[in-house]
Amino acid sequence: MKVPPGPRGFEVFQFLGGGNVGRTLKFLESSARRYGPISSFRILTKRIYLVDDPDLIEEILVKRQHSFVRDTGAVLLRELIGDGLLTREEPEHRERRRILQPAFHRDQIASYADSMSSEAERTASEWQPDATIDLAAEMRRLTLAIVGECLFGADFRGSAKGIAAALQRVGKRSQWLVPGFAFLEPLVLAYRRTFPRAPSLFFRSERAELERIITPIIERRRQSQTRDVISLLMAQRDDAGGRLSDEDIRNEIVTFVLAGHETTATALTWTGYLLAQHPDVERKLHAEIDLAVGERTATFDDIPQLRYTSAVFAEAMRLYPPALLFGRRPKETITLGGYTIRRGSTIFLSPYITQRNERFFDRPTAFDPERWEAGSPPKLAYFPFGGGAKMCIGEPFARMEGVLVLAALARRWRLRLADEKAVGVGSGMILRPDRPIVMRLDLRQPASSVPQPANAAASS
Ligand code: HEM
Repeated sequence: MKVPPGPRGFEVFQFLGGGNVGRTLKFLESSARRYGPISSFRILTKRIYLVDDPDLIEEILVKRQHSFVRDTGAVLLRELIGDGLLTREEPEHRERRRILQPAFHRDQIASYADSMSSEAERTASEWQPDATIDLAAEMRRLTLAIVGECLFGADFRGSAKGIAAALQRVGKRSQWLVPGFAFLEPLVLAYRRTFPRAPSLFFRSERAELERIITPIIERRRQSQTRDVISLLMAQRDDAGGRLSDEDIRNEIVTFVLAGHETTATALTWTGYLLAQHPDVERKLHAEIDLAVGERTATFDDIPQLRYTSAVFAEAMRLYPPALLFGRRPKETITLGGYTIRRGSTIFLSPYITQRNERFFDRPTAFDPERWEAGSPPKLAYFPFGGGAKMCIGEPFARMEGVLVLAALARRWRLRLADEKAVGVGSGMILRPDRPIVMRLDLRQPASSVPQPANAAASS
């Protein structure tokens, strides 16, 4: 059996990271750079594969997707969010996706634009000149409000602190759990098979806190006629004679609250960090927003004029993809890239690693939104939202949200780093910064969107 090359000996224990996901990522990145498109290493009894090649990624996520299931990460995630769209397998996954898709159809997405912009304008109007903010905390509060308003018709602003505190604890514990979880997984699966409804093994109080926040929202929405996520789930339950239990509905809502806000908040946080370090990019972004939007609130129709803003957001997600690493496992022993991979092995795909590979991106570590104007990278060399049937259902939502939030905030504010200390990556399941990014707020005066004639002042 031909095994892909990779690190050997004690070096492989760096994968476990010792509570620091940055170290795990460094180890994986160096393995990919040294050993090429497909590398592997063995820890104790487990062989782990890392794929860093767009064609092979496409084989796994798209062309041969039915030969794979989600990996360890989904088992850990299920301990927090239960069985939802993000953790299910076929055929239940396909059926659940069909039910939820209408909330993400093009027209429906367009209808969220005004709520996104007005929530972002509200945040922009709460900020004070020369004050400092913790950017990640502000972005989490904002994206939570947006998801609540758009997907559930609910006001989450009052719950933001509770949700953030619970997720903070989840993040800390995941730093330790994520890399070594493959070894705990058989025990967790056995426990779940024996006690399917037992409390979460690792996130008991956090799960309880999320349910405490979400249950009253479901209660209030029971009579709704809209196409939001709760209504789609409830209608399905009524049509199908009780097929979706209350627990099912609760799990999906927890899924959308979590998958739908921390990811985008993290992407916006890194975008702000990069903009503060690249004044040329920031100036160009401001100029585009001033011209396209001026002093108005941005709408859905402005989005085509905000191309550079979209490129800035896309480029930030290239360097700092919130979903840094996800896994698949073959259902049967397969051949991939000329190697045999045994049934049940872990195969990691990492947007963070592949999107920084110089084979696919010139000057891969440079923040250069212009590269998106020059053309698209090879398919699946850039995959912050995954690919195939399990690709992020919220992608169009998140892309539009990124642009509209940037437009609303950058229209009024310039964000400056309050200190120059470098920020690293530190995270459990999402690529968070390893320390708070504190920003000082400078009020800006948008340049008028309509150029004034040179003699305007004299003639008035
Ligand atoms: C920048 C923001 C976001 C990023 C980077 C992101 C990334 C991802 C990725 C990589 C996956 C696929 C994971 C896999 O294949 O195992 C995924 C799935 C998913 N995402 Fe997102 N996401 C973002 C925003 C959102 C938003 C805004 C929502 C909801 C409003 C959302 C809801 C979901 C759901 C429900 C899934 C599971 C889809 C399925 O399995 O059918 N995400 N996301």
